[in-house]
Amino acid sequence: MSLRIGGSAVALAVPPRRTLLEALRYDLDLVGTKQGCDKGDCGACTVVVDGVATLACLTLAVEADGKDVCTVETLEGAPHVDALLDGFDRLGGGQCGFCTPGMLMTATALLDRNPRPTRDEIKCAISGNLCRCTGYGKIVDAIELAAKIRRGEAERGVGMPGIEDTPEPLPSNQKSSREGRQGQS
Ligand code: FES
Ligand code: FES
Repeated sequence: MSLRIGGSAVALAVPPRRTLLEALRYDLDLVGTKQGCDKGDCGACTVVVDGVATLACLTLAVEADGKDVCTVETLEGAPHVDALLDGFDRLGGGQCGFCTPGMLMTATALLDRNPRPTRDEIKCAISGNLCRCTGYGKIVDAIELAAKIRRGEAERGVGMPGIEDTPEPLPSNQKSSREGRQGQS
């Protein structure tokens, strides 16, 4: 099968029953997507498939054949830090961080289809993403701020020390690891 991850073409061989979550984490070393309940309850495994927030633990890898998959690794890197990462960082949207990748991907799909969500729309969108730490208020605040940043109504990177001096991200480890795995497929 072949898919695109953050726009990069990836080919891999998977057994028919391999889930997309297993393929991402164990075949492609993209461990940012979390394996929580593994049965569709927690939202920690959420990725964006062709623009739709999708539970990777309930999706077979082969269902993603030919599709575009975005994981937390594909969010924009510093210094052009993604607005959502910026919002979560500035407003304390994450504590232990376990739910954060799923929250970020659910919010990515929301903001891509609705750049100006109400607070209730944000709450509705993340209602399938469980967080044991934050109480959700800060997460909603962070997504609201990210929406404003994306609309150009709030500044990006405020209070991030040295952001103007942050070098471009190094070529990602997961990419070279992914290529290595592909060679073994
Ligand atoms: S790991 Fe997929 S919903 Fe919990
Ligand atoms: S920040 Fe810990 S589970 Fe959400």
